[in-house]
Amino acid sequence: MERLKVGVLISGRGSNLQALIDAASDPAYPAEIVLVISNRADAAGLARAAAAGIPHQIIAESDRAAFALAADRALREAKIGLVALAGFMRLLDTGFVAAWQDRVVNIHPSLLPAFPGLHPQRQALAAGVRFSGCTVHFVRAEVDSGPIIAQAVVPVEDSDDENRLAARILAAEHRLYPLAVRLYAEGRLHVTGNRVTVRGGMPPDIAVTNPLEALASGRG
Ligand code: GRF
Repeated sequence: MERLKVGVLISGRGSNLQALIDAASDPAYPAEIVLVISNRADAAGLARAAAAGIPHQIIAESDRAAFALAADRALREAKIGLVALAGFMRLLDTGFVAAWQDRVVNIHPSLLPAFPGLHPQRQALAAGVRFSGCTVHFVRAEVDSGPIIAQAVVPVEDSDDENRLAARILAAEHRLYPLAVRLYAEGRLHVTGNRVTVRGGMPPDIAVTNPLEALASGRG
């Protein structure tokens, strides 16, 4: 089986990168992580790539266009089919986003379109929502926008502070991201305008991250 080649862009801790590396360590998983790019030399995620024997590069260009050029070249050389942003804290150049349209995904710790940008967990607490969660979406030029592939719901507890909520959302991220990348690798995602449809329907392992979906589909 030819596995989809995934390049992961990081800026920091890299726990979502680790979740993707762990998923891809199963030879039956339809994608493999073949390149990690960080825009920061001190990103802890680089050590995760090294530990897994995955080629990794630092592209510390502060100029957005220069970063895009270097990243584009490295991704093409590695024959990357999908770029996964995982805690990548820079805006991508619009030319890069257009060139890689529908081949770049991101994970964000809120139920988009609510709470884009920085500190989404703090935003959720300030807004008083009862549920937040995380979203995997195709990337468009505007920050944290683009067709939504999958979401996982996380209840907000009365005792939550920003860190507690962030930790529970992060645990959901680590489950959701590998599932969403798998759907992409299986060629099951179809984008029409802002909507993504999943050929064969949303699989049960994603549906059960959302209790109501699971109930509605009789799997609860
Ligand atoms: C995650 O919460 C991700 O959703 C957001 O930044 C955080 C990165 O964490 N975009 P990590 O580097 O994957 O541990």
